[in-house]
Amino acid sequence: MNSIVEYILARRSIRKYTEAAVPRKLLEQLLQVGMAAPSASNRRPWEFVVLTEPERIRALTQVLVLGRYEPKAIIVPCGNLTRTLPWPASSFWIQDCSAAMQNMWIAANGLGVGAVWIGIHPLKPFVRAVQKALGLPRHVIPLGALYLGFPAEQKAPRSQYDSQRVHWEQY
Ligand SMILES: Cc1cc2nc3c(=O)[nH]c(=O)nc-3n(C[C@H](O)[C@H](O)[C@H](O)COP(=O)(O)O)c2cc1C
Repeated sequence: MNSIVEYILARRSIRKYTEAAVPRKLLEQLLQVGMAAPSASNRRPWEFVVLTEPERIRALTQVLVLGRYEPKAIIVPCGNLTRTLPWPASSFWIQDCSAAMQNMWIAANGLGVGAVWIGIHPLKPFVRAVQKALGLPRHVIPLGALYLGFPAEQKAPRSQYDSQRVHWEQY
């Protein structure tokens, strides 16, 4: 049994996938760990769009020019602006959805599924294009896309620890 630290160090961006579909039960498990993430005042301002149909996946990957890979499933965590804290805390939806994304990514890798985060927010043209592709209303903002599939490439675990980035007690 690996320790939690080993799982975190083993999380890598996997962009090549086998033809095998990602089972629905596994996707549901990822959604469970996603929604277990912390959120500011526990507002949970998130919603998740899950794509498994090849045509829909292809349509989204065409829109995301930095994500032209061939995942077998995609989860898009979105911030619903009607569920956020009031201004100026409203932007916490970004951290909230990022925490959910990271939980799902680590869990996916730990369960043997390759994954990569494709950035959407705050790039406005990407946000608009993804809203259109997924039929999202204007107040539902896609944070990023978690591409998923069984890995067809291997990457070694690693830490990128750099002691110069650490400031003990004072900067
Ligand atoms: C906010 C964010 C946006 C990213 N966007 C992309 C992307 O558009 N395309 C891509 O191939 N990888 C993307 N990545 C993955 C990074 O390139 C990757 O995490 C980084 O190179 C470190 O490699 P590792 O994930 O294997 O540790 C993104 C990662 C984050 C956190």
